[in-house]
Amino acid sequence: MDLNQLNSVLAGLPHPLLVVDSENRIRIANDAARELLGSEPAERNYVAVIRQPGALDCIENALRHRRRSEGRFMRAGASTETTYRMVAIPLDRARSGLSGVIVSFEDISHVEEAEQMRRDFVANVSHELRSPLTALAGFIETLRGAARNDEAARDRFLTIMEREANRMNRLVSDLLSLTKVEVNERVRPRDLVDVIALIRSTIAALRPLAESAGAEIDLLAECDTATVAGDPDQLTQVISNLIENGLKYGASGGVVRVEARIVQHFAGFRGPALRIDVIDRGEGIDPVHIPRLTERFYRVDSHRSREKGGTGLGLAIVKHIINRHRGRFQIQSERGHGSTFSVILPIAETADRNAGP
Ligand SMILES: Nc1ncnc2c1ncn2[C@@H]1O[C@H](COP(=O)(O)OP(=O)(O)O)[C@@H](O)[C@H]1O
Ligand SMILES: [Mg+2]
Repeated sequence: MDLNQLNSVLAGLPHPLLVVDSENRIRIANDAARELLGSEPAERNYVAVIRQPGALDCIENALRHRRRSEGRFMRAGASTETTYRMVAIPLDRARSGLSGVIVSFEDISHVEEAEQMRRDFVANVSHELRSPLTALAGFIETLRGAARNDEAARDRFLTIMEREANRMNRLVSDLLSLTKVEVNERVRPRDLVDVIALIRSTIAALRPLAESAGAEIDLLAECDTATVAGDPDQLTQVISNLIENGLKYGASGGVVRVEARIVQHFAGFRGPALRIDVIDRGEGIDPVHIPRLTERFYRVDSHRSREKGGTGLGLAIVKHIINRHRGRFQIQSERGHGSTFSVILPIAETADRNAGP
């Protein structure tokens, strides 16, 4: 194969590729490489084009030692940096008619991002566990020492210790829920669930919580039943998390209202959908926070969330469950006027509707 043939093979490939000869000259730069390196790299010395020490070493090593070599290349964008993994492989002179190396660039930013997210997640979990653990360790020490014979103090401390242990328990349960949903997020649930009945029972279960928050839970269902292909435990968790949030952060409005209706058309859905709105008339959420609320551990006010027993994982769980059910999740809110969290789920295609004439 000569240079021209090689050039036409490499031209349209999606990864940036360079061929550098033993005289350090770039002999081929495919379209993607020209896009990446700017200007016209071909026929120039690679040192003048690449200009990043690590990336230069990679090519130099391959050229000099005639061995495969790896490196990194960074491209700075307007606000983000893209990381490329470079691989330089010596060309087989006998077969290519050229002595030199071929260099490929692979965008690995998403891999780096995932790695960064994993590190952040571990740091967050550790941080969340540390404060209850520190509290527990501190009280154990006090109970052993100064408060050993002080019955009143002992009771008070044990109450706090119980609260901290419960907090760790909730955190661990939420983490397990999150993992479980993520693991089977691609597996579509098959059970047929009447979501209206499920909403009614969830509301009944949350009545005591509503009472202690000093708010009512109202239900306005425009249909008696609504069948969805779903996982009943997970759908209960969605409704329950949203109503609990309404009670925790929106109780000042005195009522959390759940509305359920069937809508015939919703953007992106083929058939009819069930729309559930969980509405509170509390303090609302500043628009800057809304896009981030479903991130793990994102809270508008961490102190307040912790005080209310929150883990910061509730809405992340909700979002993953809804994704698994091929639904949509929307948040609307206005500061001072309350919030509406909407879940839209496809109505199950029942046997009747499938049966043609
Ligand atoms: N109904 C609501 N009204 C105002 N803020 C809310 C409401 N629901 C959720 N939020 C905000 O979103 C954050 C994340 O919610 P969530 O993921 O359920 O975590 P948690 O309730 O454990 O703090 C909460 O900390 C709160 O700041
Ligand atoms: Mg919550």
